[in-house]
Parts: sequence; structure tokens; C-alpha cells
Amino acid sequence: MEDRRRRVYGRRLGHRLRPGRQVLLERALPALRIDLPEDTQARIDLNGLFPAPVSDRWLEIGFGAGEHLAHQVRANPAVGFIGCEPFVQGVAGLLRHLEDDGTVDRVRIFPDDARLLLDRLPDACIGRLFVLFSDPWPKKRHHKRRLIDAETLAAFARILKDGAEFRWASDDSGYVEWTLEHVAGNAAFALAERISGDWPSRRADWPETRYEQKARAAGRAPVFLRYVRSRR
Ligand SMILES: C[S@@+](CC[C@H](N)C(=O)[O-])C[C@H]1O[C@@H](n2cnc3c(N)ncnc32)[C@H](O)[C@@H]1O
Repeated sequence: MEDRRRRVYGRRLGHRLRPGRQVLLERALPALRIDLPEDTQARIDLNGLFPAPVSDRWLEIGFGAGEHLAHQVRANPAVGFIGCEPFVQGVAGLLRHLEDDGTVDRVRIFPDDARLLLDRLPDACIGRLFVLFSDPWPKKRHHKRRLIDAETLAAFARILKDGAEFRWASDDSGYVEWTLEHVAGNAAFALAERISGDWPSRRADWPETRYEQKARAAGRAPVFLRYVRSRR
């Protein structure tokens, strides 16, 4: 049987990394990478994940080129961040932002399928979760590749703290409907806001990602969903 939890669809490698980015990856990633404990039943010990105490931990899955994550890191100086992205060019892009900003100490990276990490995170450890423009896999036969499904949502519900926010966005109307339906099927989440297009105050707190820019340039209006993890 196919082990879908060990399969990342889409790109891990694009064009060859530019030499500078390759050097950056080799130099900076080892200290920031989250390695899963060898004991497959063990959860990751998040104490000491960051060199200094953090007020909360936020997670971004599929951070792409890293501009949104880097923004959140800059804007929330007390928070520690975990970013998941299997696409190496994306990881290198994030590292460049973090080094420019001097914020590497507050970020840890899981450069693989986020579902492998989700299974190993402790209960109620994440205060905010971002899943922005996750691959929509529009063809029906590919729907099973979508990140959002009952199993992933159960994992989100387990790792999120009570009252934590889950932010999601997409420009694919089929994936929007799919996500609304699937999340509605999980009693741990309440839809707090559904916004189409844009809103005046968003940029400071929810900046555009690269895929959002592409979507807008192609004339597609994204939909933004904000969920709250209910009390246990
Ligand atoms: C369409 S891109 C969006 C990137 C970025 N969030 C943005 O809005 O510009 C989706 C990203 O999710 C990543 N991705 C796909 N499957 C993933 C998985 N299972 N775990 C973590 N990231 C994944 C891809 O490598 C890709 O960078």
C-alpha cells in the first residue's frame, strides 16, 4: 500500500542552486534543522529547541520562498517559529531572509513532508499555524494528494493549543470548498473569518506570499480562512 505520509508531491529540487545559496544551505541549515527522534514512537522535545526562551511557537507549513515566514519572525520578536518546506530552493530563500534580518535563532526548519513532523510534535504545543496556498491538486484523481484531509486536520487539532489560530489561504475555489467542508467535519475548529479579496488592515499581519502575487497577477482572487482551535 502506498505510504502517503512519506510522499511529497511536487518539487524538492528546481534548477540547480546558485553556488552562494548552496554554501548558505550547507553552512546554516545543520544548526537549524529539526531531526526526528530515532525512536519512532517518541515525540520531539521542544524544550531547548531555541537558544533563548520564547513566548509561543508558531508553525508555517509549505513556506515556499519564505517571505511570509520571515515577515512573521520580524514582526513577532518573542515568538519561536518552525517552518516546514521540502523544496530546497525555498529553504535557501528563507535562510537568506533570516541571515539578512539576524533572526536565525528564533527559527527551526523541517525540510521535508510536514506530516512526518506533525506526528512527532507534542500535544498542544503550537499557538498559530499557517498553511498558505498549499498545492491545490485540482484534478479529481489527485485530490488525495492535498495536504488538507481528515488525518492532517486531526494532527493539527492535536498539536494546536486551545484558542490557537489556524490561517489558511488559496486561490483555487475547488480547494477552498474542499477545505471548508473538511474543516467543518472536525469539531476542534471554529471558522472565525472567511475573507475574499483583500482587506485594509491585512498587510501588517498577513503579508502577501509569492503565490498570492502570482494568483492576483493571473486575475484570481484568493480566499483567506481564519480558524480558532476550540477549548478541549
Ligand atoms: C503552491 S506553493 C506555496 C508556497 C508559499 N506558501 C506561497 O504562498 O508562496 C506550496 C508549497 O508547499 C510545499 N509543500 C508541498 N507539500 C508539502 C508537505 N507535505 N509538507 C510541507 N510543505 C509542502 C511545496 O514545496 C511548496 O513550496
